[in-house]
Amino acid sequence: MSTASRSTKVKAGDGKGFGHLLSPIKIGGLEIKNRIALSPMNETFSDGEGRAGEQCIAYFAARARGGTGLLVTGAVMGTRTAAKFVWGRNLYCFNEGHLQSLVLLTERVHYFGGKIAAQMTIGFGRQGHSYDHEELVPAPTAGLPYEFGLDAQPRFIAGGMRRNERARSFGYGQMTREMSIEEIHHDQREFANSCQLAVLAGFDVIEVHAPHGYLEHQFLSPLSNKRTDMYGGEWHNRKRFINEAMEQVRYAVPNTPVGVRISAEEHFEGGLTREEMIDVALGLEARGADYVSLSDGGGYEEAGHLVGEEDRVEHIPDSAVDFKKALKVPVIVASQHDPIKADADIAAGKYDISGLGRQLFVDPDYATKLAEGRAEEIVRCTRCNTCLARCLAGIGPACPNNPWLGREYADQGLMIGPRRKGEKLLPPGGPMPAVYGRPWWKPEITIDEEHFRPFRGPGPR
Ligand SMILES: Cc1cc2nc3c(=O)[nH]c(=O)nc-3n(C[C@H](O)[C@H](O)[C@H](O)COP(=O)(O)O)c2cc1C
Repeated sequence: MSTASRSTKVKAGDGKGFGHLLSPIKIGGLEIKNRIALSPMNETFSDGEGRAGEQCIAYFAARARGGTGLLVTGAVMGTRTAAKFVWGRNLYCFNEGHLQSLVLLTERVHYFGGKIAAQMTIGFGRQGHSYDHEELVPAPTAGLPYEFGLDAQPRFIAGGMRRNERARSFGYGQMTREMSIEEIHHDQREFANSCQLAVLAGFDVIEVHAPHGYLEHQFLSPLSNKRTDMYGGEWHNRKRFINEAMEQVRYAVPNTPVGVRISAEEHFEGGLTREEMIDVALGLEARGADYVSLSDGGGYEEAGHLVGEEDRVEHIPDSAVDFKKALKVPVIVASQHDPIKADADIAAGKYDISGLGRQLFVDPDYATKLAEGRAEEIVRCTRCNTCLARCLAGIGPACPNNPWLGREYADQGLMIGPRRKGEKLLPPGGPMPAVYGRPWWKPEITIDEEHFRPFRGPGPR
């Protein structure tokens, strides 16, 4: 596949190539072959019922074939409520029916040498949309829909939204209602159970989705959490939702690395500060998080830092330094497209892994080109946000500089044949405890630690 329709010259860095970016790293017990990750992007290639079809699978396979060490999916709906309030198309993983297409996805990524993380979301809260636009959206606080003007958006997003009615409708959220405590506990447990399903589907890593004004973030922020119960008010209470979610996921998947994605700060007056988010990160690390992936910004109302233009993402490595100083686990930083700077920043200890979103939309072979001394062939993302505008419009991304984006299904080199002799037939993720109090097995049944226990069985119900 050729992506070299247009390239920006990149000179070799320090004479030693890109040794820092290309060196392996461990998250939890899992070795990732290099420091280049596909940043989570809901690329909207799944179908309306959350299944990965050939285009979705081939898209990930292309990035794995291109040498990316860790591929993180876009937000995967990890509860029924999350799936009900997602207006676009995301992957789903909350019942056994979702396993089949996810298994095909993880197998393909593994075949091409990558590791894959499921970015599991418990819900979008006030940033959710349902097909019934009259429906109230479950969120920390009632009566707090979001709304943003196009001038709050980066230039090119605003341009895309001006040109497309469907994209413009993201400017307004639906009316919210307050989640009850029972509902919170129900969704947390369902979420932990869904993370087990993701492990059964062959994902190597679970990433808890908590950045950009989504549900966990909404509970943290005083701007979106006005509750007066144990989940609102003082700082300790506002952290309760995300801390509990992490504890339950950690319990549910004890043998799988679990990361978390958060915003480094909120960039709103009175919103979450960097110091507070470092405190959040430390609390999550203490609860077993194996990495912290840093993005930035308050969400839809402040997307400038979510998918920034060059000048707005420049400062992110510097805010990451403060997280790195405080944390022991690896830190992923988004949007650092320039490999020379990324390599130098990793060498300087500013962060550990470079998470690339749109840059891997435009050039899936970024990592291989670095490894083969072909850095000058890397096609650089212009941050024009055509990809994002198309995703918001509901039609899947395309890129002016990568004619293959969205057409990966037609690349026969990304298909795989019959299973090879000796190929692993069961994903090595177990054993995992029962999330719902039902016993998974009778005590007399010997559990073979080498293999999975069948989900929710054997044993009485
Ligand atoms: C189309 C699109 C979808 C995105 N979806 C997600 C998502 O599902 N979860 C998430 O944490 N970030 C999401 N992001 C943010 C990216 O992970 C990333 O932080 C951002 O694009 C900046 O990195 P980049 O400059 O390399 O694209 C999305 C970005 C884009 C462009």
